[in-house]
Amino acid sequence: MSIDGTTGILGIIGFPLSHTLSPLIQNAALEYLGLNIVYLPFEVNPTLLGEALKAIVTLNILGVNVTIPYKEEVAKYLDEWDEESRLIKAVNTIKNSNGRLLGFNTDSKGFLMALTESLEFHPRKKDILIVGAGGAARAVIVSLAKERAGSITIANRTVPKALKLISEFKEIFRETDFAALDLQEVKTGKFFKENRIDLLVNATSVGIKGETLGLPLKDLSNSTKILDLVYSPSRTPLVIEAQSYGLSSQDGSEMLIYQGALSFEIWTELKAPLFIMRKALKAKQEKDF
Ligand code: ATR
Repeated sequence: MSIDGTTGILGIIGFPLSHTLSPLIQNAALEYLGLNIVYLPFEVNPTLLGEALKAIVTLNILGVNVTIPYKEEVAKYLDEWDEESRLIKAVNTIKNSNGRLLGFNTDSKGFLMALTESLEFHPRKKDILIVGAGGAARAVIVSLAKERAGSITIANRTVPKALKLISEFKEIFRETDFAALDLQEVKTGKFFKENRIDLLVNATSVGIKGETLGLPLKDLSNSTKILDLVYSPSRTPLVIEAQSYGLSSQDGSEMLIYQGALSFEIWTELKAPLFIMRKALKAKQEKDF
């Protein structure tokens, strides 16, 4: 990569950024296509978020990804928002369009692409259990409800958070039945034994440090598919356990790739080289294993 006076700048805003894999996959794609653009980490102090957003325009930065903890807060600094970011109430991609900041959320479409392309699961009329009720769960719910899932049950440790999501989304997505559940009830196995579950999604952060949710996967029907949004370590505890029961499952790597590819396409208006992004991620995961 050679940087000159015309090199374009993309990046990621978050705090902290030490664990982000976005620079790795985005630079692999930029380099592969021979674009004179670099993707850099911008670790922004919480008191300076507004300044950082202004700097995108001032420094003629082409666009950024936004990650934890700023996905919700950045919205107020933007000029426009796409439909997904409005529904999810979070932005993960910003494009600088001649000084106007446009907000997008590629998480829900990225999730859907991972689900349909890689796990070969199509949500229409299906019964789905989502564990978690935070920001990641919001993107998953929007994605599944837009595809007219039959039912979405949200199981969370803190039930009021699940109820709040339901009261918001049931008004918007009338073709999907919503229900809230205490995560504890899932852990007893009763819910798994008594209900049809076509897809189980882990939208909590549990698994990142090798810990498990403690779900009784043995009580699931063997046709249930599992998507774990956790992608590090690459074979997550949930995926390892699911595989031991012969359940079709996938970690969050594909969603990471697809959401990144969609961001790349928003900025560059070029087709993202998925296989190169995937290759870069796999190499890193294997090295870290
Ligand atoms: P994100 O934006 O990644 O979704 P978040 O908004 O902080 O992050 O949400 C984290 C989710 O993981 C929540 O659903 C949280 O449960 P609570 O709402 O009860 O806090 C869930 N979570 C985190 N640690 C958990 C644990 N040890 N057991 C069960 N759920 C956990």
